[in-house]
Amino acid sequence: MAIRLGDVAPDFTADTTEGPISFHEWKGDSWAVLFSHPKDFTPVCTTELGYTARLAEEFAARNVKVIGLSCDTVEDHAAWSQDIEDTQGIRPNFPMIGDADRAVADLYDMIHPNASDTMTVRSVFVIGPDNTVKLTITYPASTGRNFDEVLRVIDSLQLTAAKKVATPVNWNNGDDVIIVPALSNEEAAELFPGGWDEQKPYLRVVSQP
Ligand code: BEZ
Repeated sequence: MAIRLGDVAPDFTADTTEGPISFHEWKGDSWAVLFSHPKDFTPVCTTELGYTARLAEEFAARNVKVIGLSCDTVEDHAAWSQDIEDTQGIRPNFPMIGDADRAVADLYDMIHPNASDTMTVRSVFVIGPDNTVKLTITYPASTGRNFDEVLRVIDSLQLTAAKKVATPVNWNNGDDVIIVPALSNEEAAELFPGGWDEQKPYLRVVSQP
């Protein structure tokens, strides 16, 4: 069954390139990005994993742990890591789950049989400190993801979890935000004493708190 926003991210045990893990224990109270790639030793995946490794400091700054997965073995992940370093200049610096028996892929509905019977789609799950799913993204094998967008969304998720705001179209960290409609003007005045730009009663734009 598909995993939906707000669901508890299913727990599992698995072998990874950094040893066996129990997912919830490994994650602790951090945020996490669990993402699948279709297959080791494939070109688009090679670029994605190299780029994700380059973002290690960005993820750490946001208290996010990253973990990858495909239906390959840990041994294949380790051998492929050398190719990733050779071509992308950096090897994966996050654990990669060896899921040859597809246990985790099935648990997270990462195999879409009408796309491929054997390979995972490009899934991304962003999971919050409370272990619930905050974001899901699904891309096909032929289209590499934009991991800068994953960071951008995490910025929005973390901001909107902490403040009574929502982020508008194409928002980037530091841009103006929107006061959530559930907040009355009286309540908003307490939280945003500097005021806001009321373009419509439901569209109140304010500097990012
Ligand atoms: C790739 O990563 O390049 C890829 C993987 C599976 C199918 C198509 C492309």
